[in-house]
Amino acid sequence: MSKYWNERIHKLEPYVPGEQPKDKRYIKLNTNENPYPPSPKVLAAIQDAVNERLRLYPDPGADELRAALAAYNDLSSEHIFVGNGSDEVLAFSFMTFFSPDRPVMFADITYSFYKVYANLCSLKANVIPLDDAFNIPVKAFLKPSGGVVIPNPNAPTGQGLSVELVREIIEADPDRVVIIDEAYVNFGGKSVVPLIRDYPNLLVVQTLSKFGALAGIRVGFALGNPELIQGLNRLKNSINSYTIDRLALAGAKAAIEDYDYSSQMADRVIRTRERTINKLKEMGFSVIPSEANFIFITHQKYDAESIFHNLRDKGILVRYFNQPRISNYLRVSIGTDEEMKQFIQTMGELIRK
Ligand SMILES: Cc1ncc(COP(=O)(O)O)c(C=O)c1O
Repeated sequence: MSKYWNERIHKLEPYVPGEQPKDKRYIKLNTNENPYPPSPKVLAAIQDAVNERLRLYPDPGADELRAALAAYNDLSSEHIFVGNGSDEVLAFSFMTFFSPDRPVMFADITYSFYKVYANLCSLKANVIPLDDAFNIPVKAFLKPSGGVVIPNPNAPTGQGLSVELVREIIEADPDRVVIIDEAYVNFGGKSVVPLIRDYPNLLVVQTLSKFGALAGIRVGFALGNPELIQGLNRLKNSINSYTIDRLALAGAKAAIEDYDYSSQMADRVIRTRERTINKLKEMGFSVIPSEANFIFITHQKYDAESIFHNLRDKGILVRYFNQPRISNYLRVSIGTDEEMKQFIQTMGELIRK
């Protein structure tokens, strides 16, 4: 606390990102990064953009990147907004579409940044508990509200919703914006992007951080009706017109144009995920069905927090959330086959002890 902070800053409860330690080399299974490198075409495009033109501001409209995204998604550039990671796009969306007089709905177990944004914007939250199997209780989301935000698949559980169930939520109240956060959709989930032309209140948010293996250049985007996109642009241009730098613009465009490469890497991650799940089940772990590049696991006999610390001592980072309902769970990002082999072997040793 500081006397120099204003009232708003005093009241914030900031998000705590997963650690990026520098003390030694860890097997990093804690922040859902892609274990494979970005496409070689992306690296070449970024290298190519390292030139004297860096003295110039980047294109504030990100026109070429938006055109590439529009072509890939069979939409027009007017349907696309890009930002500095999907975190920024989500924060801008909360500021643009939700109001303090009507509560915004999100699940009790979900991406913890939503609560932070709601607090930042002085919004009331209508927190909907997941059911006992950690499924999204769709019926509860059908009641009218000031807005909805759901990751599909959900984080940190990895469970997905069908397109039809998302459609029910969108149709339930056409006056509110429904944000579907598809950060992990390319690892086996179902995208609702094809619904965008039918529903002006649907905003789909995606990122290059996971599927595109580009967490390091921070590019996320929103796809939705041009009316929603114009609102986001009004907000962005009242804060910072140049949210995406020249290198990120070049890399992101190359990534969209080489999505085939990312799909091949995602297939590898999915295969490794399924093998890892089978091994964990053999050890007596319960694993929530996952459509993401991470899994959410628990064991009746072993304490998740102790496993988390013991794994860390052995050079393996996973994510532990000391939160109601999930305090005996671990979220484990899927690494390479070799990393997951070591993870399983270390888990086996810890459990035998
Ligand atoms: C559900 C969800 N949405 C959004 C993000 C933000 O991703 P980025 O800001 O890297 O695009 C994350 C990151 O972990 C996430 O888990």
